Amino acid sequence: MPAAKASKDQAAHSLGLSRPASQKENAADRDSPPSAAGSPIIAVSGVNYTVDVASHPLHILRDVAFRVEAAEVAAIVGPSGSGKTSLLMLLAGLERPTSGKVIVAGQDLSALSEDGLALFRRKTVGIVFQSFHLIPSLSALDNVGLALEIASPQLTRTQTREAAAAALTAVGLGDRLTHRPAALSGGEQQRVGLARAMIAKPRLLLADEPTGNLDQETGALVIELMFDLARRQHTAVVLITHDRSLAARADRVLTMTQGELVDTGQGRV
Ligand SMILES: Nc1ncnc2c1ncn2[C@@H]1O[C@H](COP(=O)(O)OP(=O)(O)O)[C@@H](O)[C@H]1O
Ligand SMILES: [Mg+2]
Repeated sequence: MPAAKASKDQAAHSLGLSRPASQKENAADRDSPPSAAGSPIIAVSGVNYTVDVASHPLHILRDVAFRVEAAEVAAIVGPSGSGKTSLLMLLAGLERPTSGKVIVAGQDLSALSEDGLALFRRKTVGIVFQSFHLIPSLSALDNVGLALEIASPQLTRTQTREAAAAALTAVGLGDRLTHRPAALSGGEQQRVGLARAMIAKPRLLLADEPTGNLDQETGALVIELMFDLARRQHTAVVLITHDRSLAARADRVLTMTQGELVDTGQGRV
């Protein structure tokens, strides 16, 4: 397999975006119907998530229910091990709940096959990780361009590159296009991660402790940028963070405790 193809497949896989080559691109794929105005981007109800550990059930999520409105910014806080990442995995369709319903952008995820879930992720969801997950061998431009190429293969190479350059410029990295991740600071890498997550204009951005590897000041800048981009692109955000001062800048704060999620009220007061 040529190196470029291998790294593309690897990228698609690490982003949870891969799909079988047999799956044809068609108009329905490109334009999943927007849910009716006013309907939530996320509607989770009665969700339990239990895994077996050494043949004993471990109850990771218990009767979780919440909604996030279109373009709303929700923060989830809570101690390590309380189930935050697990919840994000369910929202991304990377794991399935043991019981209950996860509806994202009007789509009941339990009704989707694995291929359907991959397509859903490509079109509807952007994800930002704590450890950036950039492809080391690719420039910033190609890391972002690759995500768009996977989401919108009908674009020409020039269109993809121009859009990637614009997305990187929007996060303040217009003069870092040809840098590889190792030549970028942590804050710069996370801004590439943000540009990559937002390039296909997802309706939902999921961010799992995106500032966990950054100092406080850099982290605050990245979050500011994230909220600003989300506002401009009308993207809803679910942000997991340990930092309550960052969480307080969301529209709403939810707290996870031992697998139970409680709405702890307004941010941005
Ligand atoms: N696939 C799994 N198998 C066994 N235990 C798991 C699995 N996924 C998560 N856990 C456990 O579930 C709990 C919640 O994990 P996680 O969702 O990562 O919490 P958080 O993100 O809040 O730190 C932890 O105790 C973790 O070890
Ligand atoms: Mg976690």
